[in-house]
Amino acid sequence: MPQDPLKERHEHGILKFPEGFLWGAATSAYQVEGNNTNADWEEFKSAGKACDQYNLYEQDFKLAKQLNHNAHRLSIEWSRIEPKEGEFNQAEIGHYVKELKLLKSLNMTVMLTLWHFTLPKWVADKGGWENRKTPFYFERFVKKIVPEISDYVDLWITLNEPGVYVYESYIERVWPGAKKSWFGQIKTFLNLVSAHKRVYKYLHSQFSAGPLRSKASKPVGIANNILSFESFHKHSLREQIAVWANDLFVNHLFYILTKNTHDFLGINYYFHVRFKDSKLMPQPKDITGQIHDISDLGWEIYPEGIFEVLTDLADDIPIYITECGIASTNDDRRNRFLISYLQEVARAIKSGVNVRGFFYWSLIDNFEWHLGFDPKFGLIEVDYETEKRHIKPSALVYTDIIQNNGIPHALLRFIGHTVQAEEVLEKRQKEIEKELSSVKR
Ligand code: BGC
Repeated sequence: MPQDPLKERHEHGILKFPEGFLWGAATSAYQVEGNNTNADWEEFKSAGKACDQYNLYEQDFKLAKQLNHNAHRLSIEWSRIEPKEGEFNQAEIGHYVKELKLLKSLNMTVMLTLWHFTLPKWVADKGGWENRKTPFYFERFVKKIVPEISDYVDLWITLNEPGVYVYESYIERVWPGAKKSWFGQIKTFLNLVSAHKRVYKYLHSQFSAGPLRSKASKPVGIANNILSFESFHKHSLREQIAVWANDLFVNHLFYILTKNTHDFLGINYYFHVRFKDSKLMPQPKDITGQIHDISDLGWEIYPEGIFEVLTDLADDIPIYITECGIASTNDDRRNRFLISYLQEVARAIKSGVNVRGFFYWSLIDNFEWHLGFDPKFGLIEVDYETEKRHIKPSALVYTDIIQNNGIPHALLRFIGHTVQAEEVLEKRQKEIEKELSSVKR
């Protein structure tokens, strides 16, 4: 039977990503591992056994592989490795070596975060990042762990979101060490700047002239929380100034203070913020009166924002989207989120931005800091009673995109025409499930 030429065009259209693009998901140790009893968060708001990934990592990494991820971002827990000052726990180092080795044996590119928000209690007791010695403590820990794991790491992230850490601890005051102190806030930020620079220099010295010089040099960067800002009235000078100043402080300041110590930019994108008469708007409403959709955490769904931040930050070094995700108990919204945000990433790439990878936050539902276990960011659901994993349909939509190294037209149609949505998705999911069930775990 002759095929309908229009249909043919639709089915074969794929919005392609560049060759070798990294596709994966991100996690952090404290949020997933469980029983991190030497961390500062334990006494503040404990994650308890969390997702028990410390024991179940093999299953989780194999699930990621089964979902076709070719990269994974994870962190190591400083408080496990150095539970007391200067005392390093070799068994825990061995544990991380096993984890990382497994990822490499699964042929995954490994992006490793050296610090993702938690501190050993002994560091917190000495004043945490406010203490001018903490960058030195951190560097000492890094110098101990790097020679042991460097064979299994492809990309290094020194720090995760320094600005968010300062904001949650000193402005919102909902994280350990919370206090109101302008001076403390500035010291913390500057010590994080110093920690990044020290570790960047150390890693580079090791791979260029030091003991690791025979090994391939691995790029070093940070994962920074980048917001898209918008003025409510397009021509209001006050609002434009608010946008400019916030963009400078929130998105650019850390990079300015650490100039020339980034081999790539790691962008965590979650927020779109609107200013009206230089105040933050409580509602995601635009000038036409349209109220935009929000996630379960009230964060605005604004795909164009990721295009804006990517084009704004584009430089001559590669960019990785080190985190981007939605908290939602409605998985259909995660499907839409993935497709529409990735469509904007593809648009940025087409406009010349050198984006090399995307890490969805998060592989599994996990401990969302002071908000506990209610927010559901995962591609995989976790039953916190039994620790059983359950793959959500959105994980399969992501797999579909990964397998095509692009967004199939059928999925793009899904965000445009809701009538076809369920039908299209159901069909794609069945196809992917069938393919996956033939892959051995
Ligand atoms: C952090 C994660 C967090 C996620 C969602 C990022 O700011 O790196 O630890 O869970 O956002 O809030």
